Amino acid sequence: MLSKEQNELLCRVGPGTPMGNMLRQYWTPALRSAKLVADGAPERVRLFGQDFVAFRDTNGNVGFLDEGCPHRGVSLALGRNEECGLRCIFHGWKINVDGQVVEVPSEPAGSNLASKVRVNHYPVREAGGMVWVYLGKEETLPPFPAFEFTNLPPESVVVRKALNKCNWVQALEGLLDSSHVNSLHKSWLQTPQPVQGAFAGMLGDSAPRFEVEDRPYGLNIKAKRVLGDGTLVNRYTEYALPTFCFIPNALETLRVMAFPVAIDDYNTWFWEISYNPTGGPMDAKTSDELRNVGIMGDDPDNYYQPAWGPEKVWGQDREMMRQGHFTGFIAFPFEDFAVQESQGALVDRSKEHLGMSDVAVIRARRLLLEQVQKFREGEALRGQAAPVDFGAIHGVHEILPAPAQPHEVNS
Ligand code: FES
Ligand SMILES: [Fe+2]
Repeated sequence: MLSKEQNELLCRVGPGTPMGNMLRQYWTPALRSAKLVADGAPERVRLFGQDFVAFRDTNGNVGFLDEGCPHRGVSLALGRNEECGLRCIFHGWKINVDGQVVEVPSEPAGSNLASKVRVNHYPVREAGGMVWVYLGKEETLPPFPAFEFTNLPPESVVVRKALNKCNWVQALEGLLDSSHVNSLHKSWLQTPQPVQGAFAGMLGDSAPRFEVEDRPYGLNIKAKRVLGDGTLVNRYTEYALPTFCFIPNALETLRVMAFPVAIDDYNTWFWEISYNPTGGPMDAKTSDELRNVGIMGDDPDNYYQPAWGPEKVWGQDREMMRQGHFTGFIAFPFEDFAVQESQGALVDRSKEHLGMSDVAVIRARRLLLEQVQKFREGEALRGQAAPVDFGAIHGVHEILPAPAQPHEVNS
């Protein structure tokens, strides 16, 4: 449980908020690289309650600017993207990827206005099929989190995102809370499918024991299950600040990570990355099955069906439930989205009742609030203070035979 004040501090991300300031100090995934074509249409991007425009210039370089034209605020997303710059259609000012105003055709010849105009533009990196942006303090540039998928060939990686209509912390908590799987995703786990082996043993113990350890980049969350015959099923979820979650599965050629990125206080991009860590191509069948292709939408920039909101009870099917399905949702991501959005756009955590199984959620909240405090005091943030091997972080799903000696079950 948090006080109302702590909850506000944790959740609000707009310009000038303490959490918003802290989150901006990390590299942020902004959009899929494929959305930007050289001299093609610019893209509007909203992050942390702020509006930006991204474009790829004639030479292939990506520019990331405040959306409003520095002249009189017209959206640069309406602009013409040509000859190495974005030209505002209102009076024709042209701005390049470095944020320099290179032409002001509305001014008299010889005007030096262009050289005096400052355009807010932001450092970008392209990696893993995504454009990443750094929106933090100009004088600091944090280490880039070169996660495993960012170093793989494009055919080994599938990147997609969906609109989650709730605060980003609700989405993050869903990813860290391994104990909901036995309830919310029970029917999905029971359905025969190629990925079933990926989560073997999870249904055999509905009350896993959790252990949470600090890591230089975040947390390691271990969920321990003991099956009826004594077999141990240990799942290690890794959490790298500020929101990157590495979800364990038992397959050797498929790894999954997912993370929320706040659009504003009430809307979130839910990113999901699946990849083959061997560098080989993704196994299409397994990948499609895991991603529920054919059931979910197939737009990689928003695979969630926006029509299925609260007014349609998120698409829940009571007939399916009568026939034995636990939740009445046709795909497991719908289950996650429905429960998260049903908490409300920004849930009041002063009213909740937490138990033993919520330890990972509690630790993550505490860690995020600690980072806010660190940032206020001018200290280095976790994951930025000492070198981190980001490429070595991944979830682990471990199945161990019953030990010879009886082990503690309810410690
Ligand atoms: S508002 Fe953009 S050029 Fe005038
Ligand atoms: Fe879930």
